[in-house]
Formats: sequence, structure tokens, C-alpha cells
Amino acid sequence: MSAPAFDWPYPALIAHRGGGRHAPENTLAAMRLGASEGYTFVEYDVKLTRDNILVLMHDDTVDRCTNGQGRVADMTYAELSQLDAGSWHSPAFAGERVPTFEAVVQFLLANGIASNVEIKPSLGHEAATGTAVALACRALWADASVPPLLSSFSEVALAAAHVAAPELPRALLLSEPTADWRERLVKYDCVALNINQKRATPELIAAVHDAGYRMAAYTVNDVARAKQLREWGMDGIFTDELVAMRDVAGR
Ligand code: G3P
Ligand code: CA
Repeated sequence: MSAPAFDWPYPALIAHRGGGRHAPENTLAAMRLGASEGYTFVEYDVKLTRDNILVLMHDDTVDRCTNGQGRVADMTYAELSQLDAGSWHSPAFAGERVPTFEAVVQFLLANGIASNVEIKPSLGHEAATGTAVALACRALWADASVPPLLSSFSEVALAAAHVAAPELPRALLLSEPTADWRERLVKYDCVALNINQKRATPELIAAVHDAGYRMAAYTVNDVARAKQLREWGMDGIFTDELVAMRDVAGR
């Protein structure tokens, strides 16, 4: 078993959900905030609407991050686009909309910002979402020098993305580093393992590197912990604290 040869092109600091805690997650406003803070690598969550439009949303429902209610998979994009996805965060973002994946990618590419596209399928839509995200990424990044890093907790979605666009780099997301993490990385031809930062140890980081893979940790909101992880060799740090992390090298 060996890791694929891949020249890791990504900065170390990753703006989580676009703008971390400073803007409503997974919106264009969040992407603008991340860009204005100097971040050149952002993470966001992508899923399908009922009419097969890829949009940014973390949860299966719109309840937490909009003024609406219901499942994204049950709504058309036209319905979703009527919702206010900013007021829940703060009045300054009132009227912010749920963005399409395409609109976000256009903004990020125009501003030279790399993407970690987390495939976040609604329950029961894992394979379709993995396929749709991979094919959309292939088309949207066709002329880009730095490809998006696709990741997912859903191994069904990751497998579908692998089949649909094998040339795109992938990372397996694990909340716990299972004993068979190497086998899983090989299975989906991944380039990286993304894990819960609480589970990161120097030994695990060294083992992942020795196996030929990169590693990123979510979600690190303490500056001292971020510096410790970087000293241990962690390649990527997802953070909600975009301003506080200024002191950590790697944006
Ligand atoms: O991709 C890293 C991180 O975003 C995974 O957790 O729940 O924030 O999507 P979550
Ligand atoms: Ca995420």
C-alpha cells in the first residue's frame, strides 16, 4: 500500500465555513470576510437541493442557519434562495442568501483562494452528492492551477467522488482515528486524513506522514493549541478564530 504522489499546494490555515465565527457560515459574506482577513484556503459544506442544485449548508435542515424550516433535500433552490441566511448570526448580515456552490467557487477562484470542499450529503443522498460535487469541481476548476481538496465523513460520498473524478485530491474525515485509517485512505485513494483536533497526537501525525499522507485538524480555536499542532507537523488547521490566528504561521 502506498500513498499517491501529490504535491500539496495548500496553505496551513483554513478559514472554517468561510469566515469562521465572524460571519454567517457557508455564505458569500463569509467568503468575503475570510478573504479580507487574508485567508487563502477556505473550507465549506456542500449538499444538493431537491432540484439537484449544489448549495452551501452544513446541516440537513435550514432551521439553524436561516429564518426558514425544513430539509434542504426537500426544497428547490428557488425556495431556498428566498430565505435569510444572515440574521441568525447578527443584524449586519440580514438578507444574506444561501449561496450556490457555483457562485462561491467563482468568487474564490477570482480571488485566488483555495478550497476544501466538504461533501456534506443529506441523509440518503450520499452517492448522488459525492458524484455531483466531484463533477462540478472538475468543471469549475478546469483552468485552475490549484485543485480543490474534496473531503467527507461519508465514505459512500467519498467513494462516489473517487469514481466520478479520480484525478481530484481527496481527504477522509474522521472524528476518531480508527485503527484501519491507512486502509481507508488507500481505498478512496486519498492524499490526506482530516481529523478532530482533540485526537491529534505527535505519534499519529508522524504515522500519517510516514505513510505518505498529509493531515489537517478541525476545529482549532485556541492559538496555543494551533501552534502546538503546527510544531508537531500538522499540515492544516481549520479555525473559526480568523482574527486571533493571525499569529500562527501559514495563511
Ligand atoms: O472539514 C472539517 C470540519 O468542517 C468538519 O466538521 O462539522 O464543522 O463540518 P464540521
Ligand atoms: Ca465542514
